[in-house]
Amino acid sequence: MLELQHVSFDVSDERDKNIGIIEDLSLVIPDRKFVVVTGPNGGGKSTLARLIAGVEKPTAGRILFDGTDITEMSITDRAKMGISFAFQQPVRFKGLQVLDLIRLASGNRNLSVGDACEYLSAVGLCARDYIRREVNASLSGGELKRIEIATVLARKTRLSVFDEPEAGIDLWSFQNLIQVFERMRKDISDSSIMIISHQERILNIADEIVVLADGKIRSQGPKEEVLPELIGTDAAVNACQKLL
Ligand SMILES: Nc1ncnc2c1ncn2[C@@H]1O[C@H](COP(=O)(O)OP(=O)(O)OP(=O)(O)O)[C@@H](O)[C@H]1O
Ligand SMILES: [Mg+2]
Repeated sequence: MLELQHVSFDVSDERDKNIGIIEDLSLVIPDRKFVVVTGPNGGGKSTLARLIAGVEKPTAGRILFDGTDITEMSITDRAKMGISFAFQQPVRFKGLQVLDLIRLASGNRNLSVGDACEYLSAVGLCARDYIRREVNASLSGGELKRIEIATVLARKTRLSVFDEPEAGIDLWSFQNLIQVFERMRKDISDSSIMIISHQERILNIADEIVVLADGKIRSQGPKEEVLPELIGTDAAVNACQKLL
């Protein structure tokens, strides 16, 4: 579905010195897979998501989506092709109601209030209280984040990218969110999901885990292989293998 070929992203510092944020990164997100990207703060995860969404353009390399080169394509064109993105820090839209935002995302201007409410309920918001609210500064960070996740759910695109969906979300809603992602994993048909996360419970849903540090892939593979390394239970796994 999505393929990054030798992608690099450099920025210049105040002295015009080049800093490599993403370095020669090659990655495939296959069809029907739930991929979780994790790794230390500052490792380049959000930058990778922004490169996929088209917010940033790589300084080298190519990005292919269903075989089409999208490296130079705008965010809007990528969205039309089926890539949707929930930011680590969502944007507020003054003058727009939550209902409008969900209708826009779903691509159906006539989406019923009832159907729009289902997306809000899925992310733990009482739909009645939020559906007519304006998407402005009066919403808390966690509320805004959940509304943004609801819009990505409403989009139902080929590739959904979530950057730290758990950030700023309270424990109760987090449980809900885990269920939403588990359902997405179960109902995956011809789509794929990429989630950036530090949470073990989200890592646990993954088919595949990618560990990104210092702009490079440190490790990648099925959850069963990568997760034990990550949570330091390698010794326990080896001990079990010895017993077999
Ligand atoms: N435009 C930019 N100019 C300068 N530095 C940048 C720019 N964009 C990203 N960086 C730096 O690149 C590194 C990677 O940032 P990024 O936001 O991708 O990390 P991350 O893995 O998402 O971290 P976190 O887990 O904290 O969200 C950071 O050190 C960040 O400061
Ligand atoms: Mg980040």
